Amino acid sequence: MPTRAFTPRTSLFDYRFDSIPRLSRSCVGTGAHPRLVCQAFIRITKSHIKMGSLHKTPDHTMPYLTIEDTIGNTPLVQLKRIPGSDAEQRNNIILGKMEGNNPAGSVKDRPALSMIKHAEARGQIKPGDTLIEATSGNTGIALAMVAAMRGYKMVLLMPENLSEERRQSMAAYGAKIILTPKTGGMEYARDLAEKMQKDGEGLILDQFANPDNPLAHYETTGPEIWRDTEGRITHFVSAMGTTGTIMGVSTYLKEQNPAIRIIGAQPEEGSQIPGIRKWPEAYLPKIFDHSRVDQTESVSQAASEHMARRLASEEGIFCGISAAGACEVALRISQQVENATIVFVVCDRGDRYLSTGVFPA
Ligand SMILES: Cc1ncc(COP(=O)(O)O)c(C=O)c1O
Repeated sequence: MPTRAFTPRTSLFDYRFDSIPRLSRSCVGTGAHPRLVCQAFIRITKSHIKMGSLHKTPDHTMPYLTIEDTIGNTPLVQLKRIPGSDAEQRNNIILGKMEGNNPAGSVKDRPALSMIKHAEARGQIKPGDTLIEATSGNTGIALAMVAAMRGYKMVLLMPENLSEERRQSMAAYGAKIILTPKTGGMEYARDLAEKMQKDGEGLILDQFANPDNPLAHYETTGPEIWRDTEGRITHFVSAMGTTGTIMGVSTYLKEQNPAIRIIGAQPEEGSQIPGIRKWPEAYLPKIFDHSRVDQTESVSQAASEHMARRLASEEGIFCGISAAGACEVALRISQQVENATIVFVVCDRGDRYLSTGVFPA
């Protein structure tokens, strides 16, 4: 369909006044006074100038996107320099799934939307209700965004010593933040959230136990990777926090091709990488199922931070530390295999870590 170019007009004189006589002629015999018709035309024209277009009126049937529609369908991009000649000789391709491109900036936009949407569909919650979550990281920011877009009140609980920039992002989306004593850690925040739910102050979504967390990745992340590699993926690497990403993607990909290797990245002993943990057996998230992970690889904080700087400066991929840890593992796998298409998850963007000093000026 040909598209009509839109030229901005700044004054009434820019309009085609020759249409006024035409209008006047067209009212002959209608009983309408030509002067009144001209005045009406000028009034309409002025209102069009205010709206910025003479030609088109809003079409409420147009399928415009909402911000919610922009969650997911993130790009899958190939690393061009870091894998080097070794990967080339082995005929391996390494791809990053750019989850920082989600509107609230991380992979957590998917489970946040999934947990709220599915609870709503089950009739457990309705807009206007209060949702509660003890979380300090990407999930808090994502939940705050989804609550704002769907009309919920969001209460986020976290220890007082946690990053100011994250708190400010959550508050910007309108979430209420309750700071708990730092001596109590996340456990105190979680206990207080439980108490608030018992007292009828709202519903806890609980990303560690909520099946709608992995379901988000089963329904979206997994199918996107399968589609965008045209079924060529051989290895999937994800850093593990709640394990929602790896559980959901693994379930989907193994259904398509059971030979795809699923590799979990976790911080090595003594290393701290935001968003991920090496869970002691007793504390493993309820959604975790051992059988869905073929291999776990440990990665150090130092190596992950170094890789985060390399990804930014050598590939133009400015990402978080856990994403860089997953990349480190993807490269390790690449050195052991041939003819492989290895996908790793780029969980979030690097600007979320500026205050940590990982990217010095
Ligand atoms: C920065 C970061 N990386 C990785 C993850 C791990 O994702 P998942 O919880 O799906 O295992 C998270 C989760 O919160 C995260 O915030």
